[in-house]
Amino acid sequence: MSEQASARYLVCVAWPYASGDRHLGHVAGAYLPPDIFARYQRLRGHQVLMVSGSDTHGTPVMLRAQEEGVTPKEIVDRYHSRFVESFRQLGLSFDLFTHTDTQNHWDTTHELFLNHLHNGYIYRDKQLQPYCLIDKQFLADRYIEGECPICGYPHARGDQCDNCGNTLEPIELLHPRCKICGQSEIEFRETEHFFFDLGKLSPRLAAWLREDKEHWRPHVINYARQQAESGELRGRAVTRDIDWGIHVPVPGYEHKVIYVWYDAVIGYLSATREAVALDGNPEAWKDWWFDPQVKSYYFIGKDNIPFHAIFWPAMLIADGRGMNLPYDVPANAYLNIEDKKISTSRRWTIDLPDFLSRYDPDPLRYALTINAPETRDVNFTWEEFLRRNNDELVATWGNLVNRTLGFAYKRFEQRVPQPGPLDDLDRALLRQSEEAFRRVGEEIDAVRLKIALSKAMELAHAANRYLNEKAPWTQIKTDPQAAGTTIYVTLQVIDRLKIILHPFLPFTTQELHHFMGYEDDLFGRLTIQEVEDARGMHLALRYDGSEVQARWEPGTLQPGQKLRKPHALYKKLDPSIVEEERQRLMARLQSAEG
Ligand code: MF3
Ligand code: ZN
Repeated sequence: MSEQASARYLVCVAWPYASGDRHLGHVAGAYLPPDIFARYQRLRGHQVLMVSGSDTHGTPVMLRAQEEGVTPKEIVDRYHSRFVESFRQLGLSFDLFTHTDTQNHWDTTHELFLNHLHNGYIYRDKQLQPYCLIDKQFLADRYIEGECPICGYPHARGDQCDNCGNTLEPIELLHPRCKICGQSEIEFRETEHFFFDLGKLSPRLAAWLREDKEHWRPHVINYARQQAESGELRGRAVTRDIDWGIHVPVPGYEHKVIYVWYDAVIGYLSATREAVALDGNPEAWKDWWFDPQVKSYYFIGKDNIPFHAIFWPAMLIADGRGMNLPYDVPANAYLNIEDKKISTSRRWTIDLPDFLSRYDPDPLRYALTINAPETRDVNFTWEEFLRRNNDELVATWGNLVNRTLGFAYKRFEQRVPQPGPLDDLDRALLRQSEEAFRRVGEEIDAVRLKIALSKAMELAHAANRYLNEKAPWTQIKTDPQAAGTTIYVTLQVIDRLKIILHPFLPFTTQELHHFMGYEDDLFGRLTIQEVEDARGMHLALRYDGSEVQARWEPGTLQPGQKLRKPHALYKKLDPSIVEEERQRLMARLQSAEG
């Protein structure tokens, strides 16, 4: 493979609200794709920094705390540690997964807020804010629900409609209701807030969005351009009358807090700072944010597009220091479950920790990628999960590995056999396996992960066909050298597929690497650390892949290499799980309704 200079990728991942477990829709939409992308770029020899953390502020966390009668901090601590633990189990290789209630994040948020204020992009104004006459309090964002004025969806929230994706102001909702008491005794009262001047920034946003965005997904760039050029972008309130959040750094306004979305997107910057500081280079964040060669990718679900394609770029422009704007925002569509839209309130979800308590991580990674919601909503069914696991992972890839390694282990003295002369069939398969690095790599580079994985699986299919045609189990009776050649060629292809599949299937390719006799690791270390700062202790999930030697290219497997005793990489699942899991879903739905 031709060597390319090392490039740098800042991989930014949506910050999950610390108000409930992540479900498979979140995993397919926002969490798994960046990990595949990051692992691939690291194998290419590029520098990667993948960051995110728990979004600890805002009304989702407050509402949850209220429901349970505990403090928001208790809710944050519970879900943050559940995210960290389940992300580690799923193998998400965050260089840093932190949260937004750290001193570093407060400081970084204050720094941007004051820059915006100083540069004339934040102004003060009065606003009419919904006030519940029963609960006697202002209703921010998700404390109020009503009908979307744009699409008519009846459960739009005060900040955004989940159906059409548009951002809203509470006053725009039709037939508003208070989420605390459920009543409509709502009055609009005047209150003073700070506003971020999106209107003033729209010409610069529009100019940036008109630049080359060929690599953006059409639905993302079309939405962003339409917004920036509509002439409808206006100032948006970035402070709130609630007591959970980052304080406003302006004297006289200490009792107000910063709007959760304003602080959350700043997390990309603050987490970069925390990550490099933990590594002992506190100034190195500038290399990630000011060098125009660094490409930043924002992995999100489609409901987050306005905040990443409009709001955050506008905040970066308004900051005035020239930090990099997003290189790409590969937003995904939704995952439905058993033909129904996921709903956390109706408990029609499959939560990640629950899934991982019964199944292995790689089959999930496989199923969610081979049917990824990249261009349209997709459907997850247990029947399909079973089929993907049994027919594709077990029967195609797993079986290729099993029979080849098992045969070499038993019939070739536990070693990679010495090949004889190669024929056309041998050479064609080896060539195909070399080309797969480029064919699959191109797709991952373009964040087309579903096609990338299916191209990798094509090679596994080709290797199975080759093996069936050569039939080394027959060859060995008449021509042991020919059988050795077949096994040698197949082992080379498996060794290559091991690298090509690693970003998708990190755990089982690591096991395979070990069976093939290697001593080093493909999978770096993924650890949970406790970090102490002025706001207390927080957990940090951190990946260290500095020891990984493997590269995105054919490896160095040699004849004679000693193998280890292999066992099956994947478990065949019993068809009875389909009915069992459907029952489990139905029971959850009933408990939510009952
Ligand atoms: N917390 C938001 C959500 O779960 C996502 C925030 S992404 C961020 O929908 F970058 F803005 F933090
Ligand atoms: Zn709507």
